[in-house]
Amino acid sequence: MKSWPYSDAKPLFSSVSREEEEKIQEETSATIRVIPVVVLDDSAAAAPLADALAEAGLPCAEITLRTAAGAAAIGIMAQRRNLLVGAGTVLDAGQAEHAAQAGARFIVSPGFDEEVVRRCQELSVPVLPGAATATEIQRARRAGLRVVKFFPAETLGGVGALDALSAPFPDMRFVPTGGIGPANLQPYLARSVVLAVGGSWMVPRQLIADRDWAQVTRLARDAARLAAQSGPPPPPVPAPLATGSPGERTEPAPRERSQAS
Ligand code: 3PG
Repeated sequence: MKSWPYSDAKPLFSSVSREEEEKIQEETSATIRVIPVVVLDDSAAAAPLADALAEAGLPCAEITLRTAAGAAAIGIMAQRRNLLVGAGTVLDAGQAEHAAQAGARFIVSPGFDEEVVRRCQELSVPVLPGAATATEIQRARRAGLRVVKFFPAETLGGVGALDALSAPFPDMRFVPTGGIGPANLQPYLARSVVLAVGGSWMVPRQLIADRDWAQVTRLARDAARLAAQSGPPPPPVPAPLATGSPGERTEPAPRERSQAS
């Protein structure tokens, strides 16, 4: 099945053409409901990491720009047609632009920054800004987005906080990240408003430094298996209308999902 962040989430992120969406769908065959959040200290680890994730059936990586090696790693991973690579920890519009030039297919920020969002929209690169409050969710929505990163999810109160914060925004979807792992992944993915979760548990910095690709593959495979047990992502929310105020559009409330299977 082809889903996040393509057929379902892609139109929600920002303005991405249908052609682009279809191209990415062709490139990736797995449902991506878990986004590995990676901190790389050496770009030489990018290629074997890409292999390890693809082998595990988790063909996606958010490479954070917290290290000098991040941008180069994105460039290396972007060559892989079977892997969706994005840039994380994007803090300003310049970084967003450089990451997109390096081949990042999506951009993630820890918080909501209008300039980052606008630049990504201009570049037609999906953007996933962090939001931790109702105000930030509202601002993202006003900017025309329909998906935000709920960060830091566990510190904010976990699924209880997500339920409370998502209730007033029936047309918003969330990618909870921060403090999520095998033990608490499934309650998030069972939420009707959750497209995917992000996390670093399957790509610990030390394992990457140790080049322990077998263990990374094992952890990533477990994550993919747990995600698959949680069922498909919720149905898409139409992107905001091209004309008029995006903030004025209200979508119907998502139906409660039946028990995850
Ligand atoms: C992020 O940048 O999204 C987080 O640092 C990932 O959080 P985690 O390490 O708790 O999974």
